[in-house]
Formats: sequence, C-alpha cells, structure tokens
Amino acid sequence: MERLVISGGTPLEGTVRVSGAKNGALPLLAATVLSEGRCVLQNVPDLKDIRTLAEILREVGLSVEKTAPNTYVTRLLSEENSVARYELVSQMRASIYLLGPLLAKRGEARVSLPGGCVIGLRPVDLHIKGLRALGAEIELEHGYIVARAPGGRLRGARMFLGGPNGSSVGATANVLMAACLADGKTIIEGAACEPEIGVLARFLNRMGATIEGIDTPRLVITGVPALRGARVTVPPDRIEAGTFMVAAAATGGDVRIEEAPLDHLGAVVAKLREAGVEVLEEDDGLVRVRRQGPLRPVNVTTLTYPGYPTDMQAQLVAMLTLADGISVVSEKIYPDRFMHCAELNRMGAQILKQAASAIVRGVPRLSGADVMASDLRAGAALVIAGLVAEGRTTVHRVYHIDRGYERIEEKFRGLGACIERLRGTPSTTLKRAA
Ligand code: UD1
Repeated sequence: MERLVISGGTPLEGTVRVSGAKNGALPLLAATVLSEGRCVLQNVPDLKDIRTLAEILREVGLSVEKTAPNTYVTRLLSEENSVARYELVSQMRASIYLLGPLLAKRGEARVSLPGGCVIGLRPVDLHIKGLRALGAEIELEHGYIVARAPGGRLRGARMFLGGPNGSSVGATANVLMAACLADGKTIIEGAACEPEIGVLARFLNRMGATIEGIDTPRLVITGVPALRGARVTVPPDRIEAGTFMVAAAATGGDVRIEEAPLDHLGAVVAKLREAGVEVLEEDDGLVRVRRQGPLRPVNVTTLTYPGYPTDMQAQLVAMLTLADGISVVSEKIYPDRFMHCAELNRMGAQILKQAASAIVRGVPRLSGADVMASDLRAGAALVIAGLVAEGRTTVHRVYHIDRGYERIEEKFRGLGACIERLRGTPSTTLKRAA
C-alpha cells in the first residue's frame, strides 16, 4: 500500500503549475460518445479516474488513444456494446456521465448504478428525472440503470433540474449531452453553473450542437441529427489551484501558481483574504499567495458555484485548525463530508462536528501522526496538515489522492516540502477501528 510520508514545518516557497481539471476532463471524454468523428482532448490530467473512464469508453466501442502525455484522441469504432460494467463504474462515480450520451446516440444504455461513497449517499435521481423528461424509459435492474429511447430518439422538453441542495453538476452535464441529439428544443432550468458545464457546452457546440445560455442556470438546446469531431483543451483545475493556495497559506509560505484560474476561484480567494492571506495577481499572470501574519478564523458555507466549493472544504478546515480563534465550516452540498475531522483531531486539532458543520477551534500547532485519507479532498487536507505539523506525518490510502492530483508529492517537493511516497507494507501494522 502506498503512503505519503511528510516531515512538516517548512513554509512552501517557489512556483508550481496547475494541471488540467479532472472534473472538466471527465464530462468532455464522456461527450466524445456523441460524436461521429475524431475528437482531440488536450491538457488531460494523467489520473486514475481518467484512465478508468477511458477504459469504459473502449468497452463501449470507442478507440481511445493517448497520443502524448496529456492528449487523448477518440474515434467511434462500434456501437454494439452500450454497457458500462459495475466493475469499472464502481471505481469511479463519474461513469454515470455515459448514461446520457449512450442513450441519446444509440437509443439505449445500461450503466451500473454508482452506489454511495464515503462522502454520503450521492443519489442519481436528478439524472434519471431529466432523461425521463426527454422521453427515456428507465428501469433499475440488478443494480443497473437500463435506459431506452422509444423509436431510438429522445425528444426535447422543458424541465427544472434543481434538487434539494441546489443544482447538480452531473445531472446537468448528463441531460445537456443527451439533449444535443434529441428531436426539438430542450430548456433546462436550474442548470448547474459550475465552469466545467460551460467548458462542456462550448465543446458540444464545436461538435455542431446548438446550446444557448451557457454559464447561466437556463440552458436552451436545439437538438441536431448528428455531431462531428472537435478539439478541446481542458482548462486548469480550479480545485488543485485552490489546494496549493491553501497549502501555501497554511504553511506561512510564499508560492507562485502558474495556470491558476483566478476567475473561477472568487469564493476561495475571498475566504483566504479574510483569513489574513495575501493573494496577488502578478503581471506575468501568475498568482502569488503569501502569508506573513497569523491566520484569522473565518466562517464558511459550501454552496454551488459561484459559492465556496465543497471540494475545497476539507483543505480549508486543515488550515483553520491553526487559526487564531474559532471558525465554523458548514456543508450545504454533502452534509456528511467531514471524515477528515477525526483524522485532523488525531494530529492535535480541535474540531467538533455539529450536524452539517465543523466547529474548528484553532490550536498553536499540529503534531505529525499516522492518518488515513477517506476520500480525495480529505486526503489533500491531511497532506496540508502534514506539511504544517511538527514531526512526521504518514498519510495512508494515497490512492484516494491519486484520483485527483497529478504527482502531488513531486509538486509539493518542488515547493520545498519534505514529502515522499513509500511503497510496501509499513513496518508497524495499522490496526485502526473502521
Ligand atoms: C461533482 C464533482 C464533485 C463535486 C460536486 C459538487 C465531478 C466528477 N464531480 O459531483 O467533485 O464535489 O460536483 O460540486 O465533477 N444530487 C441529488 N440528486 C442527483 C444528483 C445530485 O440530490 O441526482 C445532490 C447531491 O447529493 C449533492 C448535490 O446534488 O448534494 C450536488 O451534487 P452534484 O453536483 O450532482 O455532484 P456530482 O456531479 O456528483
């Protein structure tokens, strides 16, 4: 089992470059199912989730070639198999993105239900509601979503896609992709406005789709008979950039970030500034993050875009464990997403979980410990905690972190951190209650 071993206490300094966005690349790859032609995706991050989706695409009849380290070229070979198997889908929830494209293009799809995950229930009811509104017949059979378009075509419809916690990124992407090949006009009200949806919509338009209202909660799609191939460059990862910003701030460092999509980080930057962190846009386009004074506590609630992202919650909690006072961090997207708190407390943090909030009482220092990543962003939070803690921290279950961060230890080492990846069985067996 791989783990990251960190000797904390060094303020991060230097320059780091952000990779392409995982959550941007996944729907773009799924959208290639809709195309009759060749699609080229550039700046795709080299991550496990991407490789899993590429594997499923191959199984459903696409040729997916990696022609350069971060470039994928896809082409349709056969439409005989439209099944996304449990064995692959269970490795990555975003496989649900294939449901809309397969159904719209081929008139049928069988996609395994992704199931829950450690950050909560994560239902798919909105995906199904939206596709049913487009005329799909959908049944749940033996753990699979089995979908069919009567007569082989979906038909445009007007729908409201908002859910109990606001809009859904995944459901919006799925229905948007499906509506491109439906007969007639679709209007999606309550669409997610996350930047990844805008990138997807622009790519679909380049493939020949007609989508209006991009970057707004009202998308209007006029269906077309077929889509051609197109090219797209995956934009830089706003969450990875945010993670480096918080890490720089937590360690009291001075870091310059290349390719930080500042336009999409408004809420994160605002909270960092409130906490006493300097965030400056430099003339060369790099973003400099520096902290010299103490960290001030801040209150944060995660929301849909442009609110504070849930994917940046755990990292901020890690930073706030060292603030000069009490912070309240509330989750409006995933109320159970606080698994990192117990691990941070093992490092000396004082976090009390109250319903869907974490009350973080700042402490003067954290102390290194063995900790376990429970999910991707919780893992990033533990790495940040390890970078500031006194002594040695070992973060176990690194595979969670590798799902979303390309070469995380190399990038942090480039900023002066003392961090290395170890393989093999640790000398002391971890016997921790599940
Ligand atoms: C995406 C991101 C994930 C991020 C999340 C919220 C990808 C691959 N993943 O996940 O990193 O944390 O957005 O920004 O891009 N919901 C329903 N019914 C549904 C679907 C969602 O009730 O059918 C609820 C969810 O439980 C959650 C909220 O809607 O409370 C938002 O979820 P959603 O935006 O769909 O998240 P994902 O697309 O799964």
